Amino acid sequence: MTILVTGAAGFIGSNFVLDWLEQCNEPVVNLDLLTYAGNLENLKELEGDPRHQFVRGSIGDRNLVANLLADVKPRAVINFAAESHVDRSIHGPGEFIQTNIVGTFNLLESVRGYWNDLPDAEKAAFRFLHVSTDEVYGSLSKEDPPFSETNQYEPNSPYSASKAASDHLVRAWHHTYGLPVLTTNCSNNYGPYHFPEKLIPLCILNALNGKPLPIYGDGQQIRDWLYVKDHCSAIRRVLEAGKLGETYNVGGWNEKANLDVVNTLCAILDELKPRADGQSYATQIIFVQDRPGHDRRYAIDARKLEKELGWKPQETFETGIKKTVHWYLDNQDWVNHVASGEYRNWVEKQYDGQQN
Ligand code: NAD
Ligand code: DAU
Repeated sequence: MTILVTGAAGFIGSNFVLDWLEQCNEPVVNLDLLTYAGNLENLKELEGDPRHQFVRGSIGDRNLVANLLADVKPRAVINFAAESHVDRSIHGPGEFIQTNIVGTFNLLESVRGYWNDLPDAEKAAFRFLHVSTDEVYGSLSKEDPPFSETNQYEPNSPYSASKAASDHLVRAWHHTYGLPVLTTNCSNNYGPYHFPEKLIPLCILNALNGKPLPIYGDGQQIRDWLYVKDHCSAIRRVLEAGKLGETYNVGGWNEKANLDVVNTLCAILDELKPRADGQSYATQIIFVQDRPGHDRRYAIDARKLEKELGWKPQETFETGIKKTVHWYLDNQDWVNHVASGEYRNWVEKQYDGQQN
């Protein structure tokens, strides 16, 4: 048996594949377009491992995906592929519409064609798991209860609107065509291989390079942070035992204001790698113009996943963030290649045009 994982050269997808192959020997085929966010160095430790096959291509390429499905005959498809950065979606929403909406539509159609032709037993066992976000639910005030699966969708950014649209398509393909789908809506992830356009890795790298740590607006926006490996275990659990057509919220019960997150990072760095001048990294914090339409608070009620499938996060924010800072300090090659853009050259040299 094999699973097909899309977008697995990105942050969460690569953590998922590494974790999956640590837990079991079921092979993984990784379909990734290698946009700026895809980095095969994340999967370097799998070089030469026959359990991982990389295919460069888009979820929107119907021919490629149909041939790949026919070839590989996966028992499940897990869809991580997406444009994922809110700020980029504000500057240029077009790619988000193409990848997250049109791409998901094309992927669903390719998968439906494959699934329809499967023998009955395989058809019944097949799963399409769509990885989505808590941002589809919109923004909470301080007093609101956390998002549950029954909250209405109120996406506010081009990114979250495109993810919301993709969730609706997935739902419709189940309701109308019977495609055996599962959807997870997760809060903010952090951990190894996080691309440094996002708050936590950006601030770790900027701090170490003596650059400013940019806080949008007043820094009091709240996110619920989940260590990436906990997200991976939640997805494995939903894939294993989730009820068809259902959605599952995934979160860490770790609500933090952005300014507190960055101050915590600075305190850990002060301890592990003190600045030469003895000052705290926190002196590098600056307040910059706010993100347009910035959602004030996200919070996840993950009780359904706990009650029905017995999943709970293993890390607290305090343990997860320490591991994360250690990882960035211990993986200077990865950091340097990402920061210099060298990973792109390496990808082009090694993989351009190759199918594995
Ligand atoms: P990422 O930007 O790090 O990775 C996305 C990956 O998708 C990249 O490897 C990229 O090359 C690939 N990709 C983009 N377009 C593609 C296409 N057309 N075909 C194939 N591959 C393509 O994103 P991430 O942070 O790892 O997020 C993965 C998924 O999880 C996304 O769907 C995102 O919406 C969702 N999610 C992310 C978070 C988070 O905190 N990062 C939280 C909840 C949900
Ligand atoms: O909630 C899940 C979502 O979390 C995922 O669906 C997205 O793919 C993922 O990118 C993330 O979105 P956010 O916008 O919450 O993450 P980001 O790291 O970009 O920002 C976190 C918070 O920090 C947010 O309130 C904006 C703020 N921020 C961000 C950056 C990059 C700053 O204050 N300064 C910054 O430089």
